[in-house]
Amino acid sequence: MEFGMTDLIKQRRSIRIFGDEKLSKEDIVNILKAGLLAPSSKNKKPVKFVVVENRDDLDKLRSCKEKGADALYTAACAIAVIADSQKSDVWIEDASVAASYMQLKAEELDIGSVWIQMRKRSNGFSDSETEVRKVLNIPDNYGVLCILALGYKDESRKPYEESDIDYSRICFDKYQ
Ligand SMILES: Cc1cc2nc3c(=O)[nH]c(=O)nc-3n(C[C@H](O)[C@H](O)[C@H](O)COP(=O)(O)O)c2cc1C
Repeated sequence: MEFGMTDLIKQRRSIRIFGDEKLSKEDIVNILKAGLLAPSSKNKKPVKFVVVENRDDLDKLRSCKEKGADALYTAACAIAVIADSQKSDVWIEDASVAASYMQLKAEELDIGSVWIQMRKRSNGFSDSETEVRKVLNIPDNYGVLCILALGYKDESRKPYEESDIDYSRICFDKYQ
């Protein structure tokens, strides 16, 4: 049977433990390509990506957030998903679509990923967006949505099954 888009969507799970091996440049570029091809409102393309592979900066990024960033301990690569908030009033939506596209592309390549939220988060002293901007020299007009932690999977997560799908969240015609 053919492995299609729905199978890929079911198979993608957040991966937070990665192996030591670095990702190939080709795989990283292919993941970024998915982000660059993602749609954006009015086709303004406000989203940019900062790719980080050095251990020192990956550790600094982990410290930008109090909780929920531990995947960066073992990640081989991180992609900060940022967008020019002066260029688009819906940069959050644009950046979210791009991040999701990249997670699906990573899964297709059998590369694990997890979305690490930075917007509206803090390290306990300062907001995470400000901290990430400092580590990566990102200008103030760029919002920092999230950081995708990426690497070869070193944990296995069960793919979603048909029984995991909650159809009661769908309403037809009107809300009910
Ligand atoms: C907007 C958003 C923010 C998230 N933030 C974090 C985070 O900061 N740290 C983390 O480990 N996972 C984070 N996740 C991953 C979710 O916890 C995960 O997608 C959810 O538990 C469902 O699991 P799954 O991805 O395996 O389907 C985030 C996901 C989304 C969509």
